Amino acid sequence: MRPLENQRDAFQLRREDHYLNCAYMGPLPRVAEEAGIEAIRKKRIPTRIVPPDSFWNTDRLRALFARLVGSDEPGRVAIQPGVSYAVATAAKNLPVSAGQNVVITHEQFPGNVYGWRRLCGEAGAEVRTVDAGASEHRGAIWNERLLEAIDKDTAVVAVPNVHWTDGTWFDLEAIGTRCRDVGAALVVDATQSVGALPFDVERVRPDVLVCAAYKWLLGPYSLCLTYFGPRFDDGVPLEETWIAREDSRDFQRLVDYRDEYLEGAVRYDVAERSNFFLAPIAAASLELLLEWRPERIQAYCAELTRELLAELRGLGYSVEEEAYRGNHLFGVRMPPSVDLDALKAELGRRNVSASLRGTALRLAPNVYNDEVDIGVLRDVLVGAAS
Ligand SMILES: Cc1ncc(COP(=O)(O)O)c(C=O)c1O
Repeated sequence: MRPLENQRDAFQLRREDHYLNCAYMGPLPRVAEEAGIEAIRKKRIPTRIVPPDSFWNTDRLRALFARLVGSDEPGRVAIQPGVSYAVATAAKNLPVSAGQNVVITHEQFPGNVYGWRRLCGEAGAEVRTVDAGASEHRGAIWNERLLEAIDKDTAVVAVPNVHWTDGTWFDLEAIGTRCRDVGAALVVDATQSVGALPFDVERVRPDVLVCAAYKWLLGPYSLCLTYFGPRFDDGVPLEETWIAREDSRDFQRLVDYRDEYLEGAVRYDVAERSNFFLAPIAAASLELLLEWRPERIQAYCAELTRELLAELRGLGYSVEEEAYRGNHLFGVRMPPSVDLDALKAELGRRNVSASLRGTALRLAPNVYNDEVDIGVLRDVLVGAAS
């Protein structure tokens, strides 16, 4: 694998900003910004937005996202506005009955929680939350506990690929196998991983795989891409859009109402899914990611942070074993000597952007970060521990 070089020039971050917080929001690459400006300009004269744009833009998005997650079926990708929407679509179509359970992880991002809480509450089913349960070998134990929690009464397993607070990695291939053994559906929120971490739908075989665009896809807010597996082929969407019907490309025949949906996941698209402003931005960023490739992004982040993490461990900081965390997203837990308020103030003073979550600092580097960013972070953390 040819290593990826630093890609700072593809972005417009200021030299004084040490942005290690892609888990909060990804910066927009230059080409995506340009695509967005061009898209906005088009609307000065509406005739420049011709009917095929309604379809073309999203066809391209579906194809790019499908490639990114290893699927050769772009028709399985829906254009949706957020993770909660995808989860609501999943919850509407997955039968859950009294006595059954839905398995989630402890402190999971709420977008993949509330839909299940409502569904289980209404059905008399259990939301089964699995915590890490240990501080040593936390990642390995958490994975084991997740697999144990999935039983014959499990209707749905709704989990992330890496945990949003500290990057703990979940073995989705093993979880997927377990789901199929017991007949449970697998709903994956990959918002904190796809784009920076390789994902292969052929190996994991999720029923739903949703990814918001504004973090690791380096795209816009209010757009997420959702892959739906065969279990959803005959499902019912949250909205009855006209665009998801046969012949909707023919604007003259829109009032020849058709009750059947187009094949595939298009039926799950949000209303006005052909977002002329957002789709070109997202597509430009996806093209960059496909050129950079997630496995090379992982390798880049690993290389960038390796020495720093070894040094921090020597100072009493702790980080999850590499096998059970992302290289693009991980928590650095503090030694007791660190004054968290002082650390927070110093991070702010040195323009280091990273989130403090409990007693862990969540670091989320990406290809625009370099040794200068890591050097400043190092100075702050070494100073805080001494
Ligand atoms: C794991 C995860 N999923 C989803 C989201 C966003 O969810 P939504 O699109 O429902 O706002 C976030 C935002 O921080 C996240 O960390």
